Amino acid sequence: MAAELIDGKAFAAKVRGKVAEHVARLKEEHDITPGLAVVLVGEDPASQVYVRSKGKQTVEVGMNSYEHKLDVDTSEADLLALIDQLNNDPAVHGILVQLPLPKHLDEDLVINSIAPEKDVDGFHISNVGLLGTGQKSMVPCTPLGCLMMLRDYHGSLSGMDAVVIGRSNIVGKPMAQLLLGDSCTVTIAHSRTKDLPDVVRRADIVVAAVGRPEMVPGDWIKEGATVIDVGINRVERDGKNKLVGDVDFASASERAGAITPVPGGVGPMTIACLLANTVTACCRANKLAEPEGLTA
Ligand code: GUN
Repeated sequence: MAAELIDGKAFAAKVRGKVAEHVARLKEEHDITPGLAVVLVGEDPASQVYVRSKGKQTVEVGMNSYEHKLDVDTSEADLLALIDQLNNDPAVHGILVQLPLPKHLDEDLVINSIAPEKDVDGFHISNVGLLGTGQKSMVPCTPLGCLMMLRDYHGSLSGMDAVVIGRSNIVGKPMAQLLLGDSCTVTIAHSRTKDLPDVVRRADIVVAAVGRPEMVPGDWIKEGATVIDVGINRVERDGKNKLVGDVDFASASERAGAITPVPGGVGPMTIACLLANTVTACCRANKLAEPEGLTA
């Protein structure tokens, strides 16, 4: 059976459309324009590409984008002073500090200095705790995007067996919390998991987020399962540079019921969810109704 493709690119365009509609309503009915501040320290080329893309899409949905580009040797005190200024700026509803930070900066300290209600990455320890206890929080963008696609495809996820491969704070752990919140039976697998193939074979939903090219072969996938591939790995193939996921797409799509491709699956959903989180943060800050279908 050839799996149905879950088209993240098309889905992300739909999410951006919903965000843009909500932004237009906020402007028209309340004279409020949501604002997203992105802070980049240093000149990491991949981070520069992400930040540019975030800024462009923020403006495209009608929001204000504030970019702060700081020298690679910016002091912790100066970075914290900027975050404090953004925390207190009523025009800024979302703050994102692009990671990784240069080595001399304490990432945890910096992230935890962002006002939790403006933490559109959902990385602040308060948001981690709120998500873990099933309370209203800001939810990390990539897992939120995966959840949206799963809900769209299945409707209810209640009672399904889900395996998340990878235990990162950015994807694996919050993904597991979200699936648990939707009443899945959740297993978090990782590099020390015994009998990983058997663990994956039990799953109705597989979320692969390890960052190892094509490590999940098709014969680990239960017939008809839904596969969400978070991996974005650059490999050399036939003398060409190619992007592949953590799942071997060719063999997995022979067994899965539905699967996200790489590229064009989870990737485009991450920035779309960042925009969704910014509009949600803006609504919460102004005690207005939140947009439907854009939160967990
Ligand atoms: N670097 C790579 N991915 C991310 C992300 O989702 N958020 C932030 N802040 N930095 C990143």
